[in-house]
Amino acid sequence: MHRVVVLGAGSISATHVRAFESLDGRAKVVAVAARHTSSAQKIIDECGIDARAYDDYRRAVLEEDCDIVVVCTPPALHCEMAVFCLEHGKHVLVEKPMGMSVEECDRMIAAAKRSGRKLSVVAQSRFFTPIWKTKQLLAEGAAGPLHFVQVNSFWFRGPMYYDLEWRGRWETEGGGCTFVQAVHHIDLLCWMAGLPSEVTAILGNRAHDNSEEEDISLALLRFPSGALGEMNSAIICHGQPQSLYFVCDRASISVPHKIVADVSQPNAFPIEDPELLRALEQRFEEIPAPAYEGFAGLADDLIRAIETDTQPVSSGESGRATLELIAAIYESGATGRTVQLPLSPESPFYRAQGIRDNMPRFHQKRTSVEKLEDAPIILASENMR
Ligand SMILES: NC(=O)c1ccc[n+]([C@@H]2O[C@H](COP(=O)([O-])OP(=O)(O)OC[C@H]3O[C@@H](n4cnc5c(N)ncnc54)[C@H](O)[C@@H]3O)[C@@H](O)[C@H]2O)c1
Repeated sequence: MHRVVVLGAGSISATHVRAFESLDGRAKVVAVAARHTSSAQKIIDECGIDARAYDDYRRAVLEEDCDIVVVCTPPALHCEMAVFCLEHGKHVLVEKPMGMSVEECDRMIAAAKRSGRKLSVVAQSRFFTPIWKTKQLLAEGAAGPLHFVQVNSFWFRGPMYYDLEWRGRWETEGGGCTFVQAVHHIDLLCWMAGLPSEVTAILGNRAHDNSEEEDISLALLRFPSGALGEMNSAIICHGQPQSLYFVCDRASISVPHKIVADVSQPNAFPIEDPELLRALEQRFEEIPAPAYEGFAGLADDLIRAIETDTQPVSSGESGRATLELIAAIYESGATGRTVQLPLSPESPFYRAQGIRDNMPRFHQKRTSVEKLEDAPIILASENMR
């Protein structure tokens, strides 16, 4: 049985505890560490598990007999904690965004290579059945080559979202909606369409005056194949209408699920191709669902990777690709220029310090609290079903 330590006891920690505990006895959470033992103990009590609470993450990792560590602390701590755990022989599942910069991702990937341990990055949306099946359907190619992709990562967060002390500052949060919320959809974009080769972006902050960071970014993309794309990110959108839209040569495939297959009439106007539509819908039905959904899918995937010595579906490299595209969106938004990928390590946007030094401050952060009022949170993809 795999023994798991969870670092962080905030809004997402119980979700990870429950995910590992749901794998039919293959994993058990043995400890939770946070800044205060009381908040770690609260997660333990809430989840009804037999585990120890720590206020020092290093002690938790060193004292507990464990092989997996889940890092769910603020992003500025991900690299330090993940590298420490990997160097002490633990497999690591690190929350999104993987780190504060591509350079931090490279340090984590290097630590995983040196230690021979697995590094996985939280991307639970990949393990939602409609998204999992859409990825497979696109990869099989029956819809033809990709021409255009539009991803809308539209969320709503009220202004008090940025009152939490580490949010709303480039220094501690690392970015605005593109980095924190759209990271889920940018991951899906890169996973399903590949990394673009060219990015042109604009950024703004319309409705969050306690944050230095952007609350909207719009990016135009060009892929190495010549396909074009649009990656739109915002936290000002009523109803949070999130979607993925892939226009391929023979059909378009969307999440929420919709397939459209048209051919030309003699006058070039569209008419449905019922045969192709039927075939694509039938194949979509046949594609097996992931073994477990969402966070449990991630936990199961990491365990599978450990036991078969293979790469997890959501690997360190894929977390890095996501941050590379985000860095390019920031570089283009800050400089007003089109940015080419891969991102050069010489670019200031390769490093967290370079991002901090070069991004616009939309507002000054004035209010800071250690904890927001408890209320349910809505997780990524819940509104893409
Ligand atoms: N995958 C998702 O859908 C999802 C949803 C929410 C949050 N997240 C991510 O999870 C991470 C945490 O977010 P959150 O909303 O739970 O934050 P939070 O502020 O609610 O909780 C952070 C936790 O980290 C702990 N912590 C801080 N410094 C520490 C230290 N030095 N040692 C040990 N523990 C320390 C705090 O005590 C707290 O328990 C972030 O990276 C965030 O982006 C992911």
